[in-house]
Amino acid sequence: MTSPEQAGSGGSGTEPVVPWCQAFFAEDYLTVFGPFVDGERAQSEAAAVQGLLGLGPGARVLDLACGQGRHSSPLRAAGLDVVGLDLSAVLLRTAAERDPDVRLLRADMRFLPLADACVDGVVNLFNAFGYFSSDEQDLDVLREVVRVLRPGARFVQEVHHRDALVRDWEPRTVHPTYADGLVVTEERRWDGVAGRHGVTYLLQQGSDGVPRRLDHELRVYSLTELVALHDRAGLEVLSVRGALETSSPSPDTPLCVVVSRRRPGPRPLSSASSCALVPSG
Ligand SMILES: C[S@@+](CC[C@H](N)C(=O)[O-])C[C@H]1O[C@@H](n2cnc3c(N)ncnc32)[C@H](O)[C@@H]1O
Repeated sequence: MTSPEQAGSGGSGTEPVVPWCQAFFAEDYLTVFGPFVDGERAQSEAAAVQGLLGLGPGARVLDLACGQGRHSSPLRAAGLDVVGLDLSAVLLRTAAERDPDVRLLRADMRFLPLADACVDGVVNLFNAFGYFSSDEQDLDVLREVVRVLRPGARFVQEVHHRDALVRDWEPRTVHPTYADGLVVTEERRWDGVAGRHGVTYLLQQGSDGVPRRLDHELRVYSLTELVALHDRAGLEVLSVRGALETSSPSPDTPLCVVVSRRRPGPRPLSSASSCALVPSG
C-alpha cells in the first residue's frame, strides 16, 4: 500500500481533501455501517457487479473508493485482477487485513495514480461519490474514470436514488440496535436547491457522557443530472438500475446504479500525472 504521503493532494488548483471525509471514514464508520453492509450482502453485490461489468478472470478492475475492501476481496477471489483505491488509511488497513492479496492504493479519486486506459472496468459503490463542494470536481472524478478505462470498458456506479431519498426523508432517526448498548442517532438536513444532504451521526454509548459526533455531507444527484454528468465525462450510459441486483429504479429503490462504458474514440487528454500501476506492499 502507498504511504499517506503518496495520497493525491491536489495539483490542478482543486481544493484539498474534504475535511469531514477524513474524520468520518475511520473506525466509527466501520462500527456504524459494517454490521449492515459487510458479509453476505457484499458477496452477492460483488457477483452482481462482475456480471454488470461483463468481465471474467484475469480482467483488471479498479474498485474506486474501495473502503474496507468488502467488494475488492470477493472480486479478487472470483479471479479478477483487483486494484482497490481509497483515501482512508484506516479503511485501507482493514481491507489489507481482510485480504492481503488485493492490491491497494491510497489516493484521492480526483487524481488516480494509474496509467491511461489500463483497466477493464471500474466500480464505485455505496455512495462513494458527490463528496466535493462543486459539481465540476465530481466531474473530475468521472473524467479520471474515463481516462483509466480502456475504450469500451464499463463503469458501474451505485449512489443514492434522490427521488427515494426525498420521498422517505425524515429529519431524525434513532437506531438502538447496535451491540454493547451503542445507540446511533441520525440528524438530517436536506437542501433541495443545492441537492445536498447532510447527516450528523451521534454515537451514544450507555446513558452517560457526551455522544461522539460524525458529520457527513453529500451532493445527491437526480438521475437526470447523473446521466448528464456521465455523458459530459465521456461515458455512454448503457442502463440505469434500481440496485445492483434489480432492474429498474423506482421510488422504492433507495440506491440507483448507472452502468456506462467509455465511449470508443480518441483517448481524452490526461488530466493527472500518470504512472504505472503501483504495487501494494
Ligand atoms: C461510503 S464509503 C464506500 C466504500 C465502499 N465502496 C463500499 O461499498 O463499502 C465511501 C468511501 O469513499 C472514500 N473516499 C472519500 N473521499 C475520497 C477521495 N477523495 N478519494 C478516494 N476515496 C475517498 C472513503 O474513504 C470511503 O472509503
